[in-house]
Amino acid sequence: MTTPLPATKPPLKLYTSIASIRQWRRQRANQRNSVAMIPTMGALHAGHISLIRSAAQTHDSLVISVFVNPAQFAPHEDLSRYPRTLTTDIEQLEALNTELSSPESSSKGRIEALFVPSVPEMYPSGIPLQQELQKGAFVTVTPLSSRLEGVTRPHFFRGVATVCMKLFNIVQPDEVYFGQKDVQQTVVLKWMVSDLHVPTKIRVEDTVREEDGLAMSSRNVYLGEKRRSFAACLYKALKASEEAYLQEVAKGATVIPRGILTGPAEKVLREAGSDEVKTETEYFSVACPKELEELEQVDVNVGAVLSGAVRMLPTQENEGPVRIIDNIILKGKVEAGSAGGWAPQDLRTVVYI
Ligand code: PAJ
Repeated sequence: MTTPLPATKPPLKLYTSIASIRQWRRQRANQRNSVAMIPTMGALHAGHISLIRSAAQTHDSLVISVFVNPAQFAPHEDLSRYPRTLTTDIEQLEALNTELSSPESSSKGRIEALFVPSVPEMYPSGIPLQQELQKGAFVTVTPLSSRLEGVTRPHFFRGVATVCMKLFNIVQPDEVYFGQKDVQQTVVLKWMVSDLHVPTKIRVEDTVREEDGLAMSSRNVYLGEKRRSFAACLYKALKASEEAYLQEVAKGATVIPRGILTGPAEKVLREAGSDEVKTETEYFSVACPKELEELEQVDVNVGAVLSGAVRMLPTQENEGPVRIIDNIILKGKVEAGSAGGWAPQDLRTVVYI
């Protein structure tokens, strides 16, 4: 009697050139495999891993990109300091693949390709950080990119949209997975693929949080112990606002004035921090899900995106300020076909555009 050998799975392979990842993609197309992509800047944490797990539920072959994209950093930002941890990133991906390939796993697919291009590979015309000096083709999504995060980071979404367009063109994935944590990024990219007829679907997955509610982020390592203990203040403010929304909905309100939502959040933010740890609210927004335009009132049939940014100021000499961003979707009513009454929409069905 012979024991059947375990089915061999293709090993996780590292690709650094566009030509080689395209060749991998062509083979997957020939095998009629569905391909999902998860773009990242590395320093992988549980938020990234959860996106990959979701993608493996639906798709055969996953490609993860790790690329710290200079175009989304302004000259004064943290490009040179941004955490680069490729060795441990690969270890995490290998461990996840072992789990996804185990007989107990219900996953359909696994990670097959890790795409880690160099800066010249992605930006053949070079990419100086000063926008006035940049040459070549870039993608802008207006007016969305100058709202909210775009106010203090005017270069940011041009950089994100441009690098994502490059990645989508290089890999041509069937579906790309993004985290709700960066909600404006997902809305910008949804507009981009729609307006530029990119044949890739965008999927948005829930935000993964630490125990106290702080959204996981590669930049949380900058916080240090003192600031870390107050860093969940924005999430608490968002939850206070959401609670006010749900109370109004329970009372039968159909339209909720903005102030009812911002009041409780602003109170939490005013009281945040301590003598030693100072916080500044950059914005607290109540916006329409489609274009992130500020709302004076929320229609409960549509819902809204609550989002904010808080600057945590340095507590000692070797620290810089750290921006915390976060958001919550105030879900609209389920559309026609439901049993009636108010029921929250699933995030994935929230119609951004
Ligand atoms: P990065 O910050 O590495 O995030 C990669 C992906 O992980 C994004 O879709 C982000 O929203 C998601 N993510 C981050 N933290 C998360 C969390 N706590 N829960 C769920 N998902 C989370 O976002 C970028 O990189 C870049 O802008 C990129 C899209 C790669 C373009 O350069």
